[in-house]
Amino acid sequence: MAASGEVGYWTAAEARGRGVAPRALEVVSRWALGPQSVMPVARLDLLHAVDNPASCRVAEKCRYVFRALLPPQPPAFPAEGHLHVRTDGGD
Ligand SMILES: CC(C)(COP(=O)(O)OP(=O)(O)OC[C@H]1O[C@@H](n2cnc3c(N)ncnc32)[C@H](O)[C@@H]1OP(=O)(O)O)[C@@H](O)C(=O)NCCC(=O)NCCS
Repeated sequence: MAASGEVGYWTAAEARGRGVAPRALEVVSRWALGPQSVMPVARLDLLHAVDNPASCRVAEKCRYVFRALLPPQPPAFPAEGHLHVRTDGGD
């Protein structure tokens, strides 16, 4: 089994604030961490910039636990980041 996978999300601007990203992330997380054989993973990582509280809320709502504060990696990631991790499929 692969050690880990990584998730990310982006919703259309006009659809934000309606819980679309957490609903989609929950479905993907349950599938990926569940008993599927397509791409078995034991852990999912989720990274976001510290100045993106909306993304942090999505992580929290989907039970991705805060694991580490990541240093900036300019130019792509000029701000510090959060690493969140989820290991359970939810059932
Ligand atoms: C981060 C993102 C995916 C959240 O998606 P979403 O479907 O709006 O998620 P939610 O509806 O659960 O909202 C998450 C948080 O956004 C904030 N929010 C609420 N309404 C909002 C709006 N109209 N616009 C932006 N953010 C809003 C709130 O803090 C909310 O948390 P709450 O439910 O505790 O109040 C979305 O804002 C986005 O695509 N942003 C740009 C891309 C991005 O930052 N991707 C993540 C990179 S790590």
